Amino acid sequence: MVNNYDGAIDRGLEGVIACTTKISYIIDATLTYRGYTIEDLSAHSHFEEVVFLLWNNRLPKEEELKHFSKKIHSELTLSKDQLKVLADLPSRGVHPMAWLRTAVSMLSLWDEDAPKTDDRSREKVMLRLLAKTSSLVPFLERIRNGKEYIEPMADKSLAWNFLYTMNGVEPEEEVVKVFDTCLVLHADHELNCSTFASRVISSSLSDIYSSVVSAISALKGPLHGGANEQVMKTLKSIGSLDKVDAWVHQVLAEKKKIMGIGHRVYKNGDPRAKILKEMSRSLCAKNGKEEYFKMSERIEEIIKSEKGLLPNVDFYSATVYDSMGIPFDLYTPIFTVSRIGGWLAHIQEQYSQNRIYRPRGEWKGASHREWSSFKNR
Ligand code: COA
Repeated sequence: MVNNYDGAIDRGLEGVIACTTKISYIIDATLTYRGYTIEDLSAHSHFEEVVFLLWNNRLPKEEELKHFSKKIHSELTLSKDQLKVLADLPSRGVHPMAWLRTAVSMLSLWDEDAPKTDDRSREKVMLRLLAKTSSLVPFLERIRNGKEYIEPMADKSLAWNFLYTMNGVEPEEEVVKVFDTCLVLHADHELNCSTFASRVISSSLSDIYSSVVSAISALKGPLHGGANEQVMKTLKSIGSLDKVDAWVHQVLAEKKKIMGIGHRVYKNGDPRAKILKEMSRSLCAKNGKEEYFKMSERIEEIIKSEKGLLPNVDFYSATVYDSMGIPFDLYTPIFTVSRIGGWLAHIQEQYSQNRIYRPRGEWKGASHREWSSFKNR
């Protein structure tokens, strides 16, 4: 076997440029979507506007945004047929990300535009996927608790509807704002694992649903989107501030990882974590959850001084969601509701400049082996 490679590629493709992109970019500790900083977008834009930006490479005019938002909101409803089939899926004792992966895949079977490749059909699929995924997660929360589906309100935002259809009560504007900001902060992040997965699948010219399902599968993993849920489980299992130091030192001594800490690209801190930290500080104080905030801060302090590692987006989003009373296992599905905006932009970009992804592996296996019959093995 001839080895055509001069040297091994880094495991995890660290530093490898896999494609050109104009969607989002990280420079040092700055994250931009289409050239706008995440600080500006989280302070001034809401989620629908950010999705328009990601998909169209410009901020919308007021009327355009109204029209775009209306199109999204009109797709929020799940049909009777969809509800019936989805309600029959096992929902208790399964992870919501496994349920969501299956449910999103099933939605494609009702979508006559799913296999079409013209721009108009693809846009319809994108709007549908964005909207309906945000309705699936609250529906799951309701059915697994024996509650009925709640019809979304087309004149309200995606964030408002998420909270309303999950809890069955109209959410306070302040809570909607926090939730919407979380959606903005998670909407895109360059070539992370799930986005790359979605681009790899779309590079085969497979359909948008298939690409999104692959991305959901990647986001589910604890080294990626699944970390936020693990952060809250960790805080709960540590229990109190006075136990944090011993816990962190034990984890580090055992060479285990602390979820929500570290990042492949950000070595000087994740800008989203800084915004979420301040949100967590005020929400935890308001909702009597200061202990969890103080515990998080102490973990951050120790891991920074001992390993030079900093929190990533998942670290403080955990206590933000917990303060809002959201169950732990819905944190990663909520991440999906947001990141699907970015995935869909990347899938479109991939189609528009496509060449199938087909890397090679560096051969490390045995060569020149001679086949032998059963009796000689
Ligand atoms: N806790 C403790 N140590 C950590 C760590 C963590 N969360 N993240 C990285 N490290 C350490 C590693 O043990 C390794 O130390 P070593 O050089 O002494 O062996 C070093 O930092 C480099 O880590 P590595 O796993 O090679 O980094 P990576 O770039 O491959 O992985 C992450 C990046 C994000 C996957 C990794 O930091 C991680 O697993 N974090 C926890 C999961 C998480 O929060 N994921 C969400 C990402 S947004």
